[in-house]
Amino acid sequence: MALSSSAAINIAALALVLLALSGGTATSAQLSQNFYSKTCPKVFSTVKSVLRSAITKERRLGASLLRLHFHDCFVNGCDGSILLDDTSSFTGEKTALCHGVVSCADILAIAARDSVVTLGGPFWDVKVGRRDSKTASLSAANSGVIPPPTSTLTNLISRFRAQGLSAKDMVALSGAHTIGKARCTSFRNRIYNETDIDVSFAKIRQRKCPRTSGSGDNNVAVLDFQTPNSFDNNYYKNLINKRGLLHSDQVLFNGGSTDSLVRQYSQNDKSFDSDFVAAMIKMGDIKPLTGSKGEIRKNCRRVN
Ligand code: HEM
Ligand SMILES: *[C@@H]1O[C@H](CO)[C@@H](O)[C@H](O)[C@H]1NC(C)=O
Repeated sequence: MALSSSAAINIAALALVLLALSGGTATSAQLSQNFYSKTCPKVFSTVKSVLRSAITKERRLGASLLRLHFHDCFVNGCDGSILLDDTSSFTGEKTALCHGVVSCADILAIAARDSVVTLGGPFWDVKVGRRDSKTASLSAANSGVIPPPTSTLTNLISRFRAQGLSAKDMVALSGAHTIGKARCTSFRNRIYNETDIDVSFAKIRQRKCPRTSGSGDNNVAVLDFQTPNSFDNNYYKNLINKRGLLHSDQVLFNGGSTDSLVRQYSQNDKSFDSDFVAAMIKMGDIKPLTGSKGEIRKNCRRVN
């Protein structure tokens, strides 16, 4: 699916950012930090301030944006192919700052970085100049490139490799699960059937995720058992304590080739930060549309 069922609330807040900026033409063939310096010099400061106020109203927004940017980049390159649904009841900001200039793919990339920074994670310079695809769809993420939470380590490594990302990038990027939430359906089998899980942790998670599918399916749990609202390396410490929420989290530390990296990141926050940043920059570079390809979407919820 393109968006989790709980995305609607987040999208409502996100609309603040997206309606503030939209549409237009671009000419450069490469991403750069100063792509908008003449056409929309306030793009970074505007996204930042709109995002900050939106995050205070909806805490989960930052996590949702970071995940959306990941999905956008994996589905055909970072090109705004993840459409935001239009179920939002949001009716606020209508003033289109820099109207006709900034792409939705770039807004997502900037907002993802600002989300990480706002939650206490590292800063990096975001390159911009991406254009939006003309064929976006709400279900773009169904295309099979987004790894499911049931993935084996081998699956994860090969899906990231297919995008030009290494196993190390994959382990570092998975650290994004230091924030945000997952639905019961994403971790039910893990908390009832798996053995490489801390028993008391499994019991706690079972309380709000019933064994049988049905009414509890959309109940959510935080991905980082320790500090769910801080961007830190506790995700890796959880893995070492067998408290990874998703199967795809715990496989990073279960006796396989990535154990040593998990141990390293759990012990050294700085090395996590620097590898995460390097991998985010690499991910943001996946097959962007530039020059006259694609379009600048006027409304991030639909193609022009
Ligand atoms: C390694 C492969 C990955 C898998 C299998 C995976 C899987 C998932 C799943 C199943 C969820 C919960 C969805 C739900 O239950 O509604 C989730 C949430 C999340 N993912 Fe990943 N993910 C992966 C990598 C990434 C990457 C690379 C990023 C970003 C750099 C990321 C960022 C997030 C965030 C922030 C959330 C929480 C979203 C929210 O609270 O709304 N994930 N992921
Ligand atoms: C546990 O595994 C069995 C056998 O694969 C499966 O039928 C069952 O649905 C699983 N239980 C949960 C709660 O996922």
